Amino acid sequence: MKQPVRTAVFPVAGRGTRFLPATKAMPKEMLPIIDRPLIQYAVEEAIAAGANRMVFVTGSGKRAIEDHFDRDPELERALDVSGKQDLLEVVKDILPKGVSCVYIRQGEPLGLGHAVLCARPAVGDEPFFVHLPDDLIRNGRGCLAQMAGHYQQHGASVIAVEEVPLEHTSRYGIVDIDDNQVLKGIVEKPLPENAPSTSAVVGRYLLTPAIFDCLEQTQPGAGGEIQITDGIADLLREEQVYAFRFEGQRYDCGNKLGFLQATIDFAMADPDLESPLRRYLRTLL
Ligand code: UTP
Repeated sequence: MKQPVRTAVFPVAGRGTRFLPATKAMPKEMLPIIDRPLIQYAVEEAIAAGANRMVFVTGSGKRAIEDHFDRDPELERALDVSGKQDLLEVVKDILPKGVSCVYIRQGEPLGLGHAVLCARPAVGDEPFFVHLPDDLIRNGRGCLAQMAGHYQQHGASVIAVEEVPLEHTSRYGIVDIDDNQVLKGIVEKPLPENAPSTSAVVGRYLLTPAIFDCLEQTQPGAGGEIQITDGIADLLREEQVYAFRFEGQRYDCGNKLGFLQATIDFAMADPDLESPLRRYLRTLL
């Protein structure tokens, strides 16, 4: 039995420029799909995978994330007094008992790899999840839980991947893998003609702590940022890393169309919203 993965790191220090002006005073991770912010779906997925320590790497303007996971006695009292017990339970259950949160500031947004490195003091010498809340994955068994199962079997780092059209390789980290799904290489945002495959890295990683020493050495890469992809390329020289094809539908909620698709699909799966939404959509189409 391998060491269980207890810690989930959420790098949320990016500025979310694609959603300006909505993200001028509000973190992108607080944008809601129906009635829950993206960051809450992220934390729920990590808890479902067995994590009980949530590490948020934040930047300026991210206070709302801390407030969201904090208790709000005034609101709880008001809901109690007005007899709204169901909503009171919803608010109290945002963070189950036994789950703790740690907030670390990334002084400057130097890149995802740098954000992950900032989490080192909170993670320590253990394997950990990295979850990018922009990438929302819908599946009964969460993506991180699937990856934790893989780690229990193989005891090595795991990176979630999915197939993308060849013309989209320059938007992702792209992996080169052997027949056993072991990484031979990984490259950030290659042009289609240089891409080793069309298997793209999505926002879920399960990493061994050896990644930290690699990230310490990682120089700025694509876009002038310290890329997690380059840190993983270094890690490959020391350890096996697996690509993992998860079950579930991924929505890129960091862009507007992906966000709308997620909203519609989640609403269609909601028993209260499904039929009125379907009726409305019929009037449009
Ligand atoms: P994105 O590339 O989506 O950047 O970052 P962004 O700033 O969030 O959004 P846009 O492109 O301006 O609209 C991918 C993930 O890495 C985190 C982001 O918060 C997001 O979860 N990140 C990126 C950091 O935490 N720090 C960084 O320095 C860069």
